[in-house]
Amino acid sequence: MSKLSHQPVLLTETLDALNLRSDGIYIDCTFGRGGHTKAILNHLEPAGQVLALDQDPEAVQVAQSIEDERLSIVHNTFAQLQATVEDNGWLGQINGILLDLGVSSPQLDDPTRGFSFMQDGPLDMRMNPNTGESVAQWLNTATATEIAKVLKDYGEERYAYRIARSIKMEPITTTSQLVNIIIKACPPSKEHKHPATRSFQALRIFINQELEQLQQVLTQTLNILAPHGRLVVISFHSLEDRIVKRFIRDKARGDKFPIHLPVTVKQLNPKLRIISKPIRASQTEINLNPRARSAILRVAERC
Ligand SMILES: C[S@@+](CC[C@H](N)C(=O)[O-])C[C@H]1O[C@@H](n2cnc3c(N)ncnc32)[C@H](O)[C@@H]1O
Repeated sequence: MSKLSHQPVLLTETLDALNLRSDGIYIDCTFGRGGHTKAILNHLEPAGQVLALDQDPEAVQVAQSIEDERLSIVHNTFAQLQATVEDNGWLGQINGILLDLGVSSPQLDDPTRGFSFMQDGPLDMRMNPNTGESVAQWLNTATATEIAKVLKDYGEERYAYRIARSIKMEPITTTSQLVNIIIKACPPSKEHKHPATRSFQALRIFINQELEQLQQVLTQTLNILAPHGRLVVISFHSLEDRIVKRFIRDKARGDKFPIHLPVTVKQLNPKLRIISKPIRASQTEINLNPRARSAILRVAERC
């Protein structure tokens, strides 16, 4: 496999979870390199449709090179999903929505994108480099307290304050500068994880507003899905998975009533039905693609 390709995670499980109809309309909110999109298209007749989104211009370029009339691609964040679906006149008609969260292998493997602590490059980490601030720009203007809060909240970094104070000592422009600062700020540890893992994860989540975007798109899916339409989400860390789990659980419970009021299930008006327990990758898949190790797939159906 080429360095700049991406192996789709939990592919068979995702297709099963989407419960594909050959004439259905599906949305892949995270096109990446199109592994899931292409597999969905393989199951559709000419009447079927896939709308794919990605905020990364490189992913969009790859999608645009696919010649298939059933596929349309939109360069946008999935927080704008409802507006995009409205533009197509498809509100309430979508048979399945897929979110395969986080970064793709091509993003991680390209040193010029600044996502990886393993390779030197500009400290950027934006999934869409044409908008907003890079991590380097933000670190150089934020206070140590603001930086420490991000490292703690999104990375659960024990040494958040020590690292944040060191970051403020000199202007940072590259990934390796940040890695060296983190290594010097953290006491030696027997942990297998690289000491920069948590800080890089935290800064990436923060700069791309990943958790806020996830919360926004989940709420919108209720207006977008057709009855029995499926919501399928693959997450890679506990902060994401917690948001997905709580959203599905709350919408499956339905509206809140005072605790002592006798109400029927119909009156509770649940918006979603939980389809299965969370699904994890098999050991065979993990051996082939170690990135699948932390993937958790959740699936629910619009009531
Ligand atoms: C894990 S990859 C998806 C891989 C894809 N399923 C495949 O098989 O190639 C995640 C992709 O989602 C995109 N992405 C992440 N957050 C996004 C958001 N809020 N809006 C749109 N795209 C997003 C990233 O740019 C990346 O290309």
